[in-house]
Amino acid sequence: MEQYQFSYQLVEGVDALSSSDASLLRSAQAATALAYAPYSGFNVGAAALLANGAVVQGTNQENASYPVGICAERVLLGNVAMQYPGQAIVAMAISYRSVKRSSDQPISPCGMCRQALVEFEHRTAAPIRLILGGESGQVMIVDSAKLLLPFAFSPRELNGR
Ligand code: THU
Repeated sequence: MEQYQFSYQLVEGVDALSSSDASLLRSAQAATALAYAPYSGFNVGAAALLANGAVVQGTNQENASYPVGICAERVLLGNVAMQYPGQAIVAMAISYRSVKRSSDQPISPCGMCRQALVEFEHRTAAPIRLILGGESGQVMIVDSAKLLLPFAFSPRELNGR
């Protein structure tokens, strides 16, 4: 039997993070105020630290035609690609605020966003460190988005390399 395993880090809270990680998570928390999520009441905020030191945010943008809505992570990737073409993302923090539950534990990106994150890693040849946390509670750190998507479909599959 083959096995896939990966390691991640659990940190007690935002105050136990390095100052750079803590400020990125705080930026993601603050970004939730800019989400447009009237249908789910689930505001997601993401913030990315780029290789050039810039920080870019993204939030989920919903639509009355529900499937048209787009997640915070993919809004963020589009923002980065447009504002800083070619720049790698060193780390991305993801947070949320919900009308239905307390924001006291990490959430991790949906399957579609994992696919998009993995492609961005390929495109810039750099892993994206994920910092996942709510407004309070433990913070989860994953060293690369690709760890969350084993056997991902990638550009390599298209040309057999
Ligand atoms: N959502 C995100 O923006 N990112 C995630 O990682 C999970 C889900 C959004 C999509 C939708 O607007 C709302 O959260 C509820 O699913």
